[in-house]
Parts: sequence; structure tokens; C-alpha cells
Amino acid sequence: MVVLGIETSCDDTGVGIVAGGRIVANEVASQTLLHARYGGVVPELASREHTAVLDEMVERALDAAGLKAGQVDLVAATRGPGLVGPLLVGLTYAKGLAWGLGRPFVGVHHLEGHVHGALAEKELEPPFLVLIASGGHTHLYDVPAWGEYRLLGATRDDAAGEAFDKVARTLGLGYPGGPEIERLAAAGSERAVPFSVPMQGREGYDFSFSGLKTAAVRFAQSGYEPADIAASFQRVAVAALVGTLERAARDLGRRRVVVAGGVAANRLLRSELQASSLEVYLPPVGLTSDNGAMIALSAWRRWRRNPEPDPLTLAAEPYLPLGEG
Ligand code: KG4
Ligand code: ZN
Repeated sequence: MVVLGIETSCDDTGVGIVAGGRIVANEVASQTLLHARYGGVVPELASREHTAVLDEMVERALDAAGLKAGQVDLVAATRGPGLVGPLLVGLTYAKGLAWGLGRPFVGVHHLEGHVHGALAEKELEPPFLVLIASGGHTHLYDVPAWGEYRLLGATRDDAAGEAFDKVARTLGLGYPGGPEIERLAAAGSERAVPFSVPMQGREGYDFSFSGLKTAAVRFAQSGYEPADIAASFQRVAVAALVGTLERAARDLGRRRVVVAGGVAANRLLRSELQASSLEVYLPPVGLTSDNGAMIALSAWRRWRRNPEPDPLTLAAEPYLPLGEG
């Protein structure tokens, strides 16, 4: 079975193809440069760019997979959460493609896409914990069964990726901040700047990252070296994520955790997770940030359990809690 997945929830246009459960194409066009001068994603510009490139991206994905459009059996797209304009572009395109090909269509929850991206190489049956850490989300779920997501904790302010982006801006680095911080941190000392791990010692599983950003501004003003700020910030941000995950796993009697979202690309996070008591499932490099392959994979696995198409009237949902999609 060949599944084509489209992802346009934010500023990346992703088209991926899964054949027989394996990823055979994953084309992503990033709009980072388009939005760079505005300091954030401009939704209307993002929508227009998705519209402009989708046809070509689908062709590129089909070429990469050595397939013709007529060989696609199922068309999927992200239905939410995300920016409503960009979501509508991909969703409407996917519906049109499905209708034109006479094939079924399914809408996919963006975060469930990230979960399957992390499980691309190794399938996993629930129960497990899921941590999504991206530019827009820092959400920790318990997943007792497929489709059941119990929210254990979330960020009270900034998302983890957002904190990397904001600290990077404070240090005069580019966007997205995560890779920039990681690069600069390699030249710094992770104990040189006295950040404290946020929410440590608190009950529950919530996160908070805005205090780190404020502290980074203060440390920069007091003359600490940027590389030391980057390294020390990265250490405590990672410690907050890993510490909370370990505690939740212990409390709930879970050992297996899936970590997904853009921040899952961070090498310190990956190595700390691997060194922890947890059995960790991380997305392969190239599947951490938004992409169409994770949407196709998610749709395929759902279809295998339940071959039920969604109606072509399925709406884009900018705020879609996991478990209700
Ligand atoms: O999942 P994603 O591509 O997009 C959404 O936000 O949905 O995540 C992007 C976020 C950005 O905030 C970026 O700074 C962060 O992930 N990120 C990283 C790294 N690579 C990307 N954060 C820390 N370390 C990285 N290596
Ligand atoms: Zn995402």
C-alpha cells in the first residue's frame, strides 16, 4: 500500500511517501529564509508559499520514490493543530488529490505524526510515555492504548524549542535557535553560568522555560561569555526535560518513552536520554522536524488498524487536543 502524506501546519512544506510501511520519499521545503526578516512565521506568507510549492513537492516526492500518482492508494494531510491558513492549504490540496485519484483521504493529528516519526524504524505498542518538545509544544502524555493520550504535564509558558530560539536571539544567533545554541555550546562550559533547573522539586509534570530566557538576558548583561551561557542553558533545559520524564516514568511504572519534535534533534538531550534509566525511542535524524513522511506513516498505521476514510468535509483544526483527532 502506498500512502502520500502532506504536512503544512506551520512553515515547512512536507510531502512524504510510505510504501509497504517503509518511508520511500520525504521532501521538505523550509520557509525559514522567507520569514527570517520578520522574526517569526507570518501565517499569510506561509500559506501562499505552501500553495506555490505543493504541486512541485508532490512531483518531487513521487519521483524520489519512483512512483506515479496513480499508484498512490491513500492520501493523508495534517488537520491540526497549527496555523489555520497553512493547515487549510495542505488539507484542501490533499482532499483534491484524493478526490481526483479516486482514493480515500485521512486527516492526521500533527503530534501523532511526530509520535510515528519517532517510531519510524522501530514499531512500539502502548503503553508508553510521549514527550513532544518543539517550537510550539512541550507536552508529556501517558499513552495506555493507541488513540488514548492522557496529558500529564505541559509547559506553563514558553515551549522548550521556543526557549532555545529566544536565548539564541539574546546571544545574537540566528533562527532556528536550537542548532545554533548547540553549536556555540560546544565551545563553552556547561557549569560556568549559574542557571538553575526550572520546576525542580515541584510536584506534577509541568515545565517552565521562560525564566531561563530572562536569566540568559541577565547573564549576558553581566558579561558572561556567550558560549558559556549557551552551554549552561542547554544543560539545564535538557536536565528539566530528562528529569521530569524520569520522574513520570517512575511514578507511572512506565519504562518506554517516545521523544519527538524539533528539540529531539539535540545531541545532549539524546545522549542524556540514552544514558538514563529509560528505554528511549527517538526519531531518526531528518524526521525530528516537521515532515510529510511522519504524516504518511501515521495514516498508514491507523489505516491498518481501522481502514476508515475521513469525509472530504473534515475541517482544519488550529487547536486540536491529542486524542480528539
Ligand atoms: O518540531 P519543529 O520542527 O517545529 C515545530 O515547532 O512544530 O521544532 C522546531 C523547534 C525550534 O524551536 C528549534 O529551535 C528546535 O525545535 N530545535 C532544537 C534543535 N533543532 C531544532 N532545539 C534544540 N536543539 C536542537 N538541535
Ligand atoms: Zn511539529
